[in-house]
Order: sequence, then C-alpha cells, then structure tokens
Amino acid sequence: MKYVSTRGGISPTSYEETLFSGYAPDGGLYMPETIPKLADLTIEQWKLAKLSYPQVVEKIVRLFVTEEEITDQELTDAVERAYEKFNAAEKVGFKDLKSPNGKSFVLAQLYHGRTVSFKDYALSLAGQFIDHFSKKRKTRTVILVGTSGDTGSAAMDAVKGLRLVDIVVLYPKGKISQVQELQMTSYLDKNIHVYAVEGSSDDLDVPIKECFPQHNVTSINSISWTRVMIQIAHYVYFYLREGNEIDVFVPTGAAGNITAGIIARLLGIPINLFCATNVNDNVEIFFNSGVYEMGGVVEETPANAMDIRYPYNVERIFYLFTDAETTLNIVTKDKSHISAATKSKISNSVRGTFKAETSLIYDTLKHTWELNHFMICPHTATAVAYYDRCSSSVAKTVYIIATASPLKFPESIEKAGISSNLWNAYELRDQLQSTPKIIPEVMRKGTDWRQTLQAKIDEILNRSLQE
Ligand SMILES: Cc1ncc(COP(=O)(O)O)c(C=O)c1O
Repeated sequence: MKYVSTRGGISPTSYEETLFSGYAPDGGLYMPETIPKLADLTIEQWKLAKLSYPQVVEKIVRLFVTEEEITDQELTDAVERAYEKFNAAEKVGFKDLKSPNGKSFVLAQLYHGRTVSFKDYALSLAGQFIDHFSKKRKTRTVILVGTSGDTGSAAMDAVKGLRLVDIVVLYPKGKISQVQELQMTSYLDKNIHVYAVEGSSDDLDVPIKECFPQHNVTSINSISWTRVMIQIAHYVYFYLREGNEIDVFVPTGAAGNITAGIIARLLGIPINLFCATNVNDNVEIFFNSGVYEMGGVVEETPANAMDIRYPYNVERIFYLFTDAETTLNIVTKDKSHISAATKSKISNSVRGTFKAETSLIYDTLKHTWELNHFMICPHTATAVAYYDRCSSSVAKTVYIIATASPLKFPESIEKAGISSNLWNAYELRDQLQSTPKIIPEVMRKGTDWRQTLQAKIDEILNRSLQE
C-alpha cells in the first residue's frame, strides 16, 4: 500500500514516510491510495475466529502496511508490546448501561491503557512503529504533539525511554484538568519535553504546523495516519463482538475518531455512526450541511479534549468522498463551492450529529450516575446525551465509545452535583501527586512560539546518536 496526500501534491510514498513526516509536504494529510473493501467471507471468518482486540488491530494494520515495511512477526511483536501493560485482560472493557431516559446501550470503555484515555490504544502502537523504523533508519526523530488534554500523556507514555526518539508536547496552560497536567509532568525521561502554552489548543497547533515539513520531525496527533488507522480497529472489534449491525455513538473533537469509523464503514463493516460534539461545533456543522467552516472562538467545556474548532480530519473526509483536486480547492481556495452531491455524500457518511450544550453534559453525567451508579467522563457524556434524545438510532444494539476514564475529570464531575465521595473521584489524582514531577517551560503570549519550538528541535537533532 502506498500513501498520497489529500491535496494531491506528492508522489505516492511509503507508510514509513507518513509515520515520519506529520503533514504531507504539500500541507495535506496522508491517506492510503485505496481503501480496500473486505470480502463478506473475510468478515465472516473474523467473526467466527472470535478475534481478540490485539488480533483485530493486527488485521487492520496488515490491510494498510505491507510486509516489506513491517513483517508479520514484527507486527505481532509490536502489538504485543504495545498492549501488554494495559490494565484489562481484554484491553477494551464493555458495560451494559442505561441512558437518563432508560435506553439501553453498551459502553465501550476504551480507557484501559496507561494514561486512561482512548488515545493510548493508537499511540502505544504508534510508539512501537516509530521505534521500529528509527532503529532501521539510524537517525534521531522528534515527535511534535499539540494536545487538548489527553494525547500528550498517551504519546509520552508510548515513547518514554526510547533512545532515538524525543517528544515535544505543547499543552494549553490552565485549560486542561489537574489529572491531565499531573500526568504530563510525571515523565522524568530525558527524551520527553513539555511546554505549557498561554493559548487554546487550536492556538498551539499553529507553531507546530509551521515546523512542518522538516526532516526527521513528525507528529502523532490525529493528523497522523497511524492514529486514524489503528482507531479503525475499535469499530471492527465492536462489530465482531456483536456479530450484527450496530449503531455507534462517537464523541468527536478533531474528527480523528469519527474518520476512523467512516473508514471502517468503507471497509464494509455494517455500522451506523452518530457523531457528538460539545458547543465547539464545527464538526456538527460540517456533517449537517457539508460546510467547511474552520475556526471560531473556542469555548471551554467540561469535555475539554474536544474544545477544538479546527477539526483538521474533515479534510480526510472530503478526500474520501471526492478527490484530491476537489479537496485542495475546498480547503485552500473556495470553501463556498461545495457541490450538492458532495454535501450529500458527507452528510450520509454518518446517520446524525448532535451538539451537546454544557448544561446538558452536566445533566447527563448526573442522571447517568443516578441510574447506573457507574461514572462516565464528560466527553462520553456528549455521546450519551445524543443517544438519549436520538430518534434515528436504527440497530438493535447501541455502542457508545467511552473515550476517557472519569478519574481524569473529577472537578468537572463535581460541578455536575455528584459528590466526589460517592465514587472515589480523586483516586488517580492522589496517586499521581505522590510521584516526582517536572516543571514545564511556559510559552508566553506575545513571544515567538515557533522560534522556541525550532530551537528545541535543533537542540535535539544535533545531539549525537550515542547520547
Ligand atoms: C477524551 C476524548 N474524547 C474525545 C476526543 C475526540 O477525538 P477526536 O479528536 O479524534 O475526534 C478526544 C480527543 O481529542 C479525547 O481526548
């Protein structure tokens, strides 16, 4: 499988190249040349084989990465290492719950990784792949990550201690939860570098984007194809577990999560997608009207990892349903000229979308707790709120993706009026507070963030390979 850019300005390239370059050189996002369609027989065989989560991940990666780049044995070993430290034997947990109005659903707990958000699932394996290739390349690599809260720690955990890989993480100062900040300052490894930026999560993507393309500098944000690719496995795994068509409700921010679901559908997996956002609703507008409207004032919400107004993965969705020329035109020139046919393809790629107001997120947290005595996180609550009032849900079984553990957001949950004593809310915070921390450098408003970042990249890349 070769890779191309959503904007059509590059020759087909290897998977390794996508892993090590963040954005494509023409500013687009990498995509596989084709999305294979699985034969019905293959899906049946996978179903009968009762594949485990790691086995599903292997099958999906094998569709998109050739054996010349990663052999079967290397892939099996990388997958095993990536998920060995997860804290549930099955890696993903499932729990039957009821929404506030008493509707049943299966909560797919994608938070049994080491930093307890769904980012761990893709990034742990991405870290293994980066390690694999950087040993072959015999070069130092810098990974740049801008995080709205969860990606940072998951990425740090995935690459901590690697000898040829350094990671530089930028997070929005004062705009993430206490646990998220404690997690990101808990890594004392010398290949990990952290900056607290005086701006929003969209603001800090600007200097990061300015540092691309650059030799040996990459990213494992959801601009990274690897993130999207591994997340496809989540949807396939849910479907195989169930054996019948399912509805999946998806909390969405930068649209990486929903893009993976759309690709799972294109592979031939019978799922219906329902996309939930918080009040930062660019994705909701995109699916409802096919309008490519990026930017706007980021509003802070309890679902802070979704406080995003540049959901860059919608560029991948345009590409999936049009072509590189049309995508380039829409994203760089004339966003008002999107044909009715394209709009309709985009709207039809999901069954529906929903914007959860902040008060509704709090209400949903409270009522879901009261009904189930089981806590969900504020991001997950956007999807539960949607399902609770959704009349177009079609399949017999509904899965809702739980993207993070509630233990990451005790303060927000307390604001919903649920006493922290009821559910041991501060367990993770207390645990994190008991270990040594680093003090992150601050990128101050009004200073040149790009220059600071570039100086750090140069310092890392100039270190000898033996250090
Ligand atoms: C907890 C949580 N939920 C949901 C999302 C949304 O995922 P995506 O940005 O891929 O749409 C994120 C990531 O930003 C997250 O960290």
